[in-house]
Amino acid sequence: MGRYVVGVTGASGAIYADRLIGHLKDLDQEVHLVLTDMGKKVCAYEGFPDAAKRADRVYDNKDFFAPIASGSYLHQGMVVVPCSMGTLGKIAHGIGDSLLTRAADVCMKEKRALIVVPRETPMSSLHLQNQKVLADYGGIIIPANPSFYHKPATIEDLVDTVLARVLDHLGLTHHQVGKRWKDS
Ligand SMILES: Cc1cc2nc3c(=O)[nH]c(=O)nc-3n(C[C@H](O)[C@H](O)[C@H](O)COP(=O)(O)O)c2cc1C
Repeated sequence: MGRYVVGVTGASGAIYADRLIGHLKDLDQEVHLVLTDMGKKVCAYEGFPDAAKRADRVYDNKDFFAPIASGSYLHQGMVVVPCSMGTLGKIAHGIGDSLLTRAADVCMKEKRALIVVPRETPMSSLHLQNQKVLADYGGIIIPANPSFYHKPATIEDLVDTVLARVLDHLGLTHHQVGKRWKDS
C-alpha cells in the first residue's frame, strides 16, 4: 500500500477530488487530505460535502506540525485537485504559507511526484506563466480538461478521463479507471 497526499482548493471541480480519493481508496492506498477554506466551501456548494470522508487522515490547513509538512515523512506523491490559480501561483513561487502549499513545496524539494490539476478559463498570461514555472521545477500539470474520444456517457466517465492520467503519473498504472487508447 502506498501513501498519497491530496490537496483540495476552491477552484471549481470538487467532483475531481471526490472521485480521486475514491479511486485511491479502491486501489488500497492511504490518503492524506488537506483542504483550503475555499476548497471546503466549493466542495459543499458543488454537492460533495462528504468528499473528505474516505480519506485516512484529514489535516487542518493551518497545522504546520502535521506530518506532511516535513520531508522526513514519507509518501509517494501529492495531487492538488482541483487547483485554483491562487494556490498554483503560491506553489510555483515557493510560498508555503498554508499546510497545503507547504506540503507541495516539500514534494518539490524531495523530488516526489507533484501533480496539479488547474481549473480556470480563460487563463491569463500570468496563470500560464505560473504553470510553466511549476512545470520547469518538475511539477506535473494535468489540467482539468476531459477528453471525449472514448465517448464518455456520464459526467463521472468524463471526469475519469482526467483522473486516469493522474493515477498513471502517480505510478498507479494498474488502475482500471477509464479506457486506454486502442485497448480492446
Ligand atoms: C463556486 C466557485 C468556483 C470557483 N472556481 C474557481 C476556479 O475554477 N478557478 C480558480 O482559480 N478560482 C475559482 N474560484 C475562486 C477561488 O475559490 C478563490 O480564488 C480562492 O481565493 C482560492 O483559494 P484557495 O486556493 O486557498 O482555495 C471559485 C470560487 C467559487 C466560489
